Amino acid sequence: MNKQQIQLLFQQVFNNEADLCVQSPGRINIIGEHTDYNNGFVLPAAIDKKVIVGIRKRDDDLIVMYAEAFEEKKEVKIPEMKPLGDWADYILGVVAQLIKKDYVVGGFEILLTGDIPIGAGLSSSAAVECATIFALNELFHFGLEKMEMVQMAQMAEHEYAGVKCGIMDQFASMFGKKDHLIKLDCRSLEYEYIPFQNQDFVLVLFNSNVKHALVDSEYNIRRNQCNEGVEMIRKYHPQINSLRDVETEMVEKYIRPQDELIYRRCQYVVSENIRLLQLCKALNHNNLDKCGKLMHETHLGLSEDYEVSCPELDLLVKIAMEQPGVIGARLVGGGFGGCTINLVRQENLESVIYEVENGYKLSSGKESTTYIVSVEDGTKLI
Ligand code: GLA
Repeated sequence: MNKQQIQLLFQQVFNNEADLCVQSPGRINIIGEHTDYNNGFVLPAAIDKKVIVGIRKRDDDLIVMYAEAFEEKKEVKIPEMKPLGDWADYILGVVAQLIKKDYVVGGFEILLTGDIPIGAGLSSSAAVECATIFALNELFHFGLEKMEMVQMAQMAEHEYAGVKCGIMDQFASMFGKKDHLIKLDCRSLEYEYIPFQNQDFVLVLFNSNVKHALVDSEYNIRRNQCNEGVEMIRKYHPQINSLRDVETEMVEKYIRPQDELIYRRCQYVVSENIRLLQLCKALNHNNLDKCGKLMHETHLGLSEDYEVSCPELDLLVKIAMEQPGVIGARLVGGGFGGCTINLVRQENLESVIYEVENGYKLSSGKESTTYIVSVEDGTKLI
């Protein structure tokens, strides 16, 4: 959608012209899943699927929101804001964070559109939060830095949507850079752009088109289990603050004899950080096969030890891994549905898509959706 089309839609919905328009992308993650809230590393990138907002200042204290995907309009007075349990929370949650930090937010009209599939594990909610805070920052001249906006968007998710997410999704959406992955250290918040462009392979996402219930509650449970593991180790090593500081031997020695489940959760996280560093090294040496192998190991860890996969995702990964030309495949994002990410050789692209789509349909009775994605810039004005 170009700016003219957004203005046209804004005109139809609000009878006015938007003051400004912002786009914010969804994200993929090559490796480093469920490591962000454990102070570990992640390796995400922003993609060519995005949320777009148009926004206009009002001279009262009313927030008027329209979501094209739901063809739904909502109005809330700023002093009466509270979580509503739907899409509006990603906008209101951001406003609540700004107010908490004493920024004076006036009324506004906001139009929400875009093409990130919802519930696909590509972080459409983080993209809405980032687009909203970026747009408000421009509209009211708050002078916020990008990292501050990322952290406030993350807290919006915690407090309004009730998901105690890590920082990866909001960070990737805001800081994305065309043809680059971002290696983020979630402890220091230092990051590095890594070139990621190769004529020989393509990034393919297969959407399982399922989203199992309990996604959010299971997510929070995993987070707590990791914290429990840290507590067990802290009894012996009080300087340890997160799984980032933990070595494989500590998990074996202090957690395994006490609690097999917590052990599997923590072992996954500790080994995932190691895999990420190995993958960065392999990328550096252009060793794609090694990258693919590590991605698949991540999937097995997520499925068997962290237990955040589901039969549909396991099936998509299994079929993909059987195809010539698939370098690596795994579930992407929080899990329990959504997409798998696949590194596929260009010359095998057509047959891989054909085989995975058909195989999935035959075995599960469900339709998958395929997206070929490119790596793009983060949140920006349009
Ligand atoms: C969700 C969360 C992220 C991250 C991933 C798993 O997308 O929002 O913070 O924890 O799951 O890696």
